[in-house]
Amino acid sequence: MRVGVVGHGWAADAHITSFNEIQGTQVVAICSRRDLDSEELSARYKSPISVFNNLEEMCRADIDIVSICTPHPLHPEQVEICAAAGKHLVIEKPVGIDLEGVRRVEKAVKDSGVKALVCFEVKVVGHFKTMRAMIDQALLGDIHYGECDYYHGIGPWYDQFGWNKRKDFGGSSLLTAGCHALDGLIWLMGNRPVEVFSYSTASAASTFSEYEYPTTTTTVMKFENGAVGKTASVIDAMQPYLLNVHLVGAKGTIWNDKFFTTELGGLNKERWSRLETPMLGSGDVGNHPYRELFENFIRSLETGSPPFFSFEDSIFSHRVCLAADLSATEGRPVSLEEMS
Ligand SMILES: NC(=O)c1ccc[n+]([C@@H]2O[C@H](COP(=O)([O-])OP(=O)(O)OC[C@H]3O[C@@H](n4cnc5c(N)ncnc54)[C@H](O)[C@@H]3O)[C@@H](O)[C@H]2O)c1
Repeated sequence: MRVGVVGHGWAADAHITSFNEIQGTQVVAICSRRDLDSEELSARYKSPISVFNNLEEMCRADIDIVSICTPHPLHPEQVEICAAAGKHLVIEKPVGIDLEGVRRVEKAVKDSGVKALVCFEVKVVGHFKTMRAMIDQALLGDIHYGECDYYHGIGPWYDQFGWNKRKDFGGSSLLTAGCHALDGLIWLMGNRPVEVFSYSTASAASTFSEYEYPTTTTTVMKFENGAVGKTASVIDAMQPYLLNVHLVGAKGTIWNDKFFTTELGGLNKERWSRLETPMLGSGDVGNHPYRELFENFIRSLETGSPPFFSFEDSIFSHRVCLAADLSATEGRPVSLEEMS
């Protein structure tokens, strides 16, 4: 598989390294608005890389997949260009910052017949896979309550801060970061929200004062099966990175790396038992399981096997984020029907 990458910043670097670790896959082209040095990039990534300034031009090259690593509002048009050229897509989240953008991405992928993967890689982390397996093996019973929250300080120490702080680029706290937690919660609950209610606020710390949108939101969700859940998206936290998970079911509970279930003999309900699978411990893209995610996507392209998670589910998670943002703005519950 020959891969082209558009946008060459923090996420792109992790994408390139991860693609190149996959047998039979190579990043061969990078498209940037800047004049990048092809020789320097080829030396850095230890394989020949052609440089383009124009995405249409890169799409005329011999590549199979385009990985989109640019700021958020650029994603819909770039997806349209690549999909029309028949390139499969890896798209960094969020795919767009408004309903129109999300619909454009959905339509471009559907109409062209290319396959697309949205980078919701949290679900590939060992901890998430173990939680999913415990749920599938009925160790929690029917889940009636779930929380998955994103706590991180996304401040001026990140290169993306310059554009991400802008409302027309970052979008919202949920779109720029909390979507990982919200998408993860929907996946773990195994059910879709039908209605959401969200409140927003912001830290008083001057570090985050340049953000043009509320940096903290909390969203309550009513699921189709009657369960309820909550996702806080706190990108102005002064603490180590935390992706918090709490799932409560009829037969047991998981709370981050702790659990209890009535379904395993010998456990004591007064004490937590502990999961040792790795948790996502940082927001650093260098620690994210991109390689495994991309490898799974490529295998599904080659063999037709279903990927870890579907493009359609990723698009639905965007609709829930947009419903939550609308709720916070208008101060009312928002039905997912409004986001179709
Ligand atoms: N999945 C994850 O965990 C994760 C983590 C970090 C970033 N991301 C996503 O990756 C994408 C890129 O984020 P990043 O952190 O790499 O950002 P970045 O600022 O480090 O890189 C963005 C790149 O886009 C280029 N660019 C093109 N047009 C631009 C414009 N008009 N304004 C600014 N830059 C422009 C920049 O030159 C830069 O090379 C975003 O969608 C972001 O949300 C995802």
